[in-house]
Amino acid sequence: MNRLLFTDCHCHILPSLDDGATCLAESVLLARYQVKWGFRKAVCTSHRVRQYPNEPDQVKRTCSELQEELIRQEIPLDLTPSMEYRLIPETWPETLEKNWLLPWEGNHILIELPIHKASRIGDIVPEDEIKRLLDMGYQPVLAHPERYLYLDMERYHSLKDAGALFQRNIGSLEGLYGEAVSVRAEALLAEDMYDMQGTDLHNERYAMFFDRFGFRITAGGPVFEVNKECGTLIEPL
Ligand SMILES: [Fe+2]
Repeated sequence: MNRLLFTDCHCHILPSLDDGATCLAESVLLARYQVKWGFRKAVCTSHRVRQYPNEPDQVKRTCSELQEELIRQEIPLDLTPSMEYRLIPETWPETLEKNWLLPWEGNHILIELPIHKASRIGDIVPEDEIKRLLDMGYQPVLAHPERYLYLDMERYHSLKDAGALFQRNIGSLEGLYGEAVSVRAEALLAEDMYDMQGTDLHNERYAMFFDRFGFRITAGGPVFEVNKECGTLIEPL
C-alpha cells in the first residue's frame, strides 16, 4: 500500500474519452490539483462502458498526449494509461475477446459493477470474472464498492474472497456521494475491507469538494485536514 501511497489509482482526467475531463485544458487543471494534493503519479482509468466503449490504443494515445502537455507545462505528474472496466454484457465479453485489458503497475485491473441497477450485469457473475482475471495473471481491483448500495455485507465478502482488492473513493466517507454511500463506506471500513484509495476525479466539482476539506496526501495516507461535519456538497455522481 505504501508503494501506491502517492499514486492516484483511479481518475478520469484524460480529455474527451468519457464523463471526465472534456478538453485538454480541463485535464491539465485536474492534474494540477492532483499534484497540489501530493500525488506524484496518476493511473488514468478512462471508462469502458456502453456510453464510452473506449479502446486501449485510443487511451494510450490520449494519455501520452496529455503527458507531453504536462511536461511542457512542468507539471510533475507521471501518467499511466489504464481503464475502468464495467462488468456488463455490452462491453466486458468483447474486452476479454479482443484482449483489451490495460493493466497498471502490479498488473492491477480496475473493474466496476453497475452503480445503481444490479440487473444491468446480466448473466455475468462478478466472482467468476475476478477469478478469471486472477487466472490470467491480473490483480482485479473493485472500484468504489461503497457505491453499490444493492450489495449486502455477505456479497462484499464473497467478492473479496474471490480475490478482488477493494478501492475506496476518497470523499465517500465525507459525503461526496451522499449519506447512504458514506454510511456504507463506514461499514466496509469497520470490516477492514479496503486495500487502496483513489480520487475517481472527473471534474472540478470533485476538486472543490476535496479542497473544501483540506485534502492532501501524507506519508501516513490521504487525510482531510478540516474535519468538520460534512454534508453532500454536490449531487451524487
Ligand atoms: Fe471511475
